[in-house]
Amino acid sequence: MERTDSLAAPDPARLRASAELQQRIAAEIDAAGGWISFERYMERALYAPGLGYYAAAPGVLGAWGGSSDFVTAPELGPLFAATLARELAALGRAEALPTVVEFGAGSGRLAADLLRALDGLGWLPETYAIVEVSAAMRQRQQRAVAELPAALARRVVWWDALPDAFDALVIGNEVLDAMPVQLLARDTGGWRERGVARDADGALRWADGAAAVAPRATMAQLPVGSVTEVHRVAQGFIATLGARLRRGVAMFIDYGFPAAEYDHAQRVGGTLRCHRAHRAHDDPLWQPGLSDITAHVEFSGIAHAARDAGLELLGYTSQARFLLNCGLLDVLRDALRELPGGVAAPSDRAGVQLAAGVQKLVNESEMGELFKVIALGRGVATPLAGFAAGDRSAALA
Ligand SMILES: C[S@@+](CC[C@H](N)C(=O)[O-])C[C@H]1O[C@@H](n2cnc3c(N)ncnc32)[C@H](O)[C@@H]1O
Repeated sequence: MERTDSLAAPDPARLRASAELQQRIAAEIDAAGGWISFERYMERALYAPGLGYYAAAPGVLGAWGGSSDFVTAPELGPLFAATLARELAALGRAEALPTVVEFGAGSGRLAADLLRALDGLGWLPETYAIVEVSAAMRQRQQRAVAELPAALARRVVWWDALPDAFDALVIGNEVLDAMPVQLLARDTGGWRERGVARDADGALRWADGAAAVAPRATMAQLPVGSVTEVHRVAQGFIATLGARLRRGVAMFIDYGFPAAEYDHAQRVGGTLRCHRAHRAHDDPLWQPGLSDITAHVEFSGIAHAARDAGLELLGYTSQARFLLNCGLLDVLRDALRELPGGVAAPSDRAGVQLAAGVQKLVNESEMGELFKVIALGRGVATPLAGFAAGDRSAALA
């Protein structure tokens, strides 16, 4: 974790935008009587129109060395999408589901690579609908989609809201972790909700507010002095999805743990993290709007919210397991074969890049184990290949 003073200063225009966002948040704190919840603060810092981190979105996602702040699996290369496409094509074909819905499509890279891969597999959705809260990210997605062949690009639409009832294959990579979280802090009197107050000069500071009820039994494992996150927004999102998904499968890929592990007695500082320029820091109140803020996903709560909304838990496993079950190594072999020189020239730069991307996706110390895949569904009989071996659904009971 980096100290914030060791991170390079952004350009003056971005600093001015951050100062304006800070003033607006301070005004909201005043209007609310001196305190807002961290959940509200995080919503403003990430999504305040024009100023929040994702709302302004100058770089955000992309490869090391550019103007980006972090890398996600689809940005590592085309093989993540090509592997996920196998699961989607098998389900889409067997269940006659004509729509793919992607939440939080980031740079549009996953959408573009998925459509190319699905085309290669001989199954395409009639509609590829993107639901994206940030107007700036949506513009970036539109630019990525515009580069696709017309027969693929014309299938892509942006939904401003979820329809009341729809049948679809739903995906979301690193979306749940970008949803605002409540912070709860345990003192000798019990749990209190941590929020944000302001000093006379407008500087933002932490302030513990009202007593709070611990929503997870496993939070009893955490000692006095602990801070942890409660994922009310993400669970509400799943409840809405569950109310509207008439038939289909929803798969979310993200870093996180089941409740018992999330509330491990040694995880006293919680999982809240900030990212800027490919470095992590731990001060979300510093220069609001200029760093990503994220928390690990608490997957038991997601599974319970899904069950309460009438969705079935179809599978839960590590990203490595899921991708290997879906045939990642076959996908890699085929991609290497298509390179000039084929598999026989493994030192070829493009081949090394593909292999390095795969290594990052599945290695236990990279994304392979920390990242999980959860699948939820309704009215679908086809078994999911991604959970054929190593399903850990029981861990979310
Ligand atoms: C961490 S980025 C991940 C982007 C992309 N999926 C990827 O893997 O590269 C999170 C994305 O989710 C979007 N987002 C956050 N909450 C959302 C919601 N409730 N509905 C749709 N998009 C959302 C953000 O604006 C952003 O584009």
